[in-house]
Amino acid sequence: MNRVGALEPLPAGVRTPADYEAHARARLDPQAWNFIDDQAGKGATRRGNRQAWDALALVPRVLRPVAKVDTRVELLGRQWPSPLLVAPMALQAIAHADGELGMSLAAAMQGAGMVLATQSSISMEAVAQAVGSEPSRGPLWFQLYLLQDREATLALVRRAEAAGYEALVLTVDAAVRAARPLQLPPGLRAVHLDPKATFTPPGWDDVAWLRSRTSLPLILKGVLHPDDAIEAAGAGVAALVVSNHGGRVLDGATSSAAALARIAEAVGDRLPLLVDGGVRSGIDVLRALALGARAVLVGRPALHGLAAAGAAGAAHVLRLLRDELELAMAQCGLDNLAAISPGLLSRHPGAMAWPWISHGNCQ
Ligand SMILES: Cc1cc2nc3c(=O)[nH]c(=O)nc-3n(C[C@H](O)[C@H](O)[C@H](O)COP(=O)(O)O)c2cc1C
Repeated sequence: MNRVGALEPLPAGVRTPADYEAHARARLDPQAWNFIDDQAGKGATRRGNRQAWDALALVPRVLRPVAKVDTRVELLGRQWPSPLLVAPMALQAIAHADGELGMSLAAAMQGAGMVLATQSSISMEAVAQAVGSEPSRGPLWFQLYLLQDREATLALVRRAEAAGYEALVLTVDAAVRAARPLQLPPGLRAVHLDPKATFTPPGWDDVAWLRSRTSLPLILKGVLHPDDAIEAAGAGVAALVVSNHGGRVLDGATSSAAALARIAEAVGDRLPLLVDGGVRSGIDVLRALALGARAVLVGRPALHGLAAAGAAGAAHVLRLLRDELELAMAQCGLDNLAAISPGLLSRHPGAMAWPWISHGNCQ
């Protein structure tokens, strides 16, 4: 499974990333669809993610003609073309035979980053070999779940280092979750894991231990509380992904946009922030950047693209997001990411209050 199939035609009539959802659903068997679309509880957090982005209205500046928009982003000593990364998502071959190979090629072609999941269906070495030398690719990071067996955890870290992954993304919000039976199709499995391996919830001592055992930058994914963000800054963590796991773990958890606003205020410039959850358009990307994110991870929409048309579909989703971001930036008088600030945001009348946004230009 270490090759990507022939490029597929894109589905007709797709104009926005969200248009891919129906095409993915039509193509997948119900079990695969349910795995991708899964949500915790009644879906309050998943819906909250969307509502929170929608509640952030943009207040464009005028009379600032923009000849060219530059979406280059700089993070952890690395520059790449678009402030997007594909979020770590398990078992992508359930969506399409191209799996993580197709997804990482799509990301590389669109100048976006790729975060490969511990529970990848294709080996980290095969993915790194496929995209490592793409000249304008974004970063290649490895998402780590802490395993009960520390030596097995370290073995994954060593493999990621040797294969050229540029950072470790330790997911801290998902070791405790409701069990969901998933019958995998024959031949599909989490290739990095022994079938008997079990995850364990990490603590701050594990963060210190991991830092002491690798020279790769350590990013924490799944932080929502500002006090945890402050602690992470003190613990030498390189960056945070503000995330509620796309509403798949704790139903009732705060939206990622609300958490981002609070955390950005709490940590200031001390720690670069990324965010995911409910990002469905370039406008949402712009909102996230205005709230203080340096880059944005995209989850389900990328898988919808992959399911609908393999690598070409995933690439198209990332292209559409980038085009929408560029257009919205131009319409707001912004020609580069550094020009984006919280002053770009207002809030819709009648939307929930954002008492913690105290930046000068916000209302
Ligand atoms: C099918 C699927 C599998 C996922 N698997 C993982 C995983 O293995 N590790 C992880 O840290 N996050 C995982 N996530 C969460 C994503 O990384 C991300 O936080 C979330 O999808 C973002 O929300 P969005 O789907 O609304 O964009 C998964 C998400 C989906 C949809």
